[in-house]
Amino acid sequence: MLCLGIESTAHTVGAGVVDGKCDVLSNEMETYVPPKGGIHPREAANHHAERVVPVIQAAVEKARVGFSELELVSFSQGPGLGPCLRTGATAARSLSVSLGIPIIGVNHCIAHLEIGRGTTEARDPVLLYVSGGNTQVIAYMAGRYRIFGETLDIGVGNLLDKFGRGMGIAFPAGPKIEKLAAMNTDPYMPLPYSVKGMDISFSGILTAAEAKKREGAPTPQLCHSMQETVFAMLVEVTERALAHAEKDEVLLGGGVAANSRLRRMLGRMAADRGAKMFVPESHLCIDNGAMIAWLGLLMHRSGIRMPVTRTRIRQRFRTDEVEVAWRK
Ligand code: ATP
Ligand code: FE2
Repeated sequence: MLCLGIESTAHTVGAGVVDGKCDVLSNEMETYVPPKGGIHPREAANHHAERVVPVIQAAVEKARVGFSELELVSFSQGPGLGPCLRTGATAARSLSVSLGIPIIGVNHCIAHLEIGRGTTEARDPVLLYVSGGNTQVIAYMAGRYRIFGETLDIGVGNLLDKFGRGMGIAFPAGPKIEKLAAMNTDPYMPLPYSVKGMDISFSGILTAAEAKKREGAPTPQLCHSMQETVFAMLVEVTERALAHAEKDEVLLGGGVAANSRLRRMLGRMAADRGAKMFVPESHLCIDNGAMIAWLGLLMHRSGIRMPVTRTRIRQRFRTDEVEVAWRK
């Protein structure tokens, strides 16, 4: 069975074609970069509306299939920015109606986890999902994907982007911050470490780092200290989730998964506990259509059906609202 998945929760509009064995036949995407400042939902949605058709066409072409061979279309139903989600949902509904194939709306966060299970050897992992808008630690327990810990304010990628913007680093700032941190030769500078129970908060770190910048702290030292602090917080919460859920696999997902310092820290923690770490290929870590296609397939195969009239987007769609019928 071939499924086309459409992603449009935030900056990226993507489309991917995946088959029933989780072979990714194509994974096309285009990312909206705001001219300045943060993301404006309506402007990002306009970008997606302009680009969604070419992206879908490219995905079908690259997969070397015809539209008539698609048997299912899936889309990111949430969580995400309303106008952006609506663009992807509308494209998916049009395809479903015009091709006469079933449509299925999927939870974006769960898609990050399932593409990891589908394309790596992870079977029952704790997912550390770190992106611009999301920061969650998720694992399967008693029929659902439970959130073991999450950010109480902004996503970690958003923290890095905001911090970078204040220093004149263009969006996305994460990769540049990683490079600057690697150049640092100064000692670690303490920043607020805020883990509250299993949850995390980042806003205090941003304020503190910006104040240190104004006092003249060197940028590489700040980038290094920022990374060490926030990654340690993420690793701590992930480790406790592993212990609590009694799992021995860690999966990394989201755009921040590209960071090699985070990978090393998480890998070290996993090794110390005798657990295994898995990181999907980069194009499957960031927001992408292939992961949406794969989760659509899993849901469809487990018997889940969604009439077009029940495909409204869900901006605040929670990971633990979904009954994970395909793992029973
Ligand atoms: P979501 O809708 O899931 O929140 P998103 O729109 O933030 O996703 P992603 O592609 O998952 O999109 O992630 C982008 C984020 O990843 C940006 O905040 C960017 O700064 C960050 N990022 C990318 N590469 C790195 C890196 N090497 N180190 C740290 N952060 C990175
Ligand atoms: Fe994402």
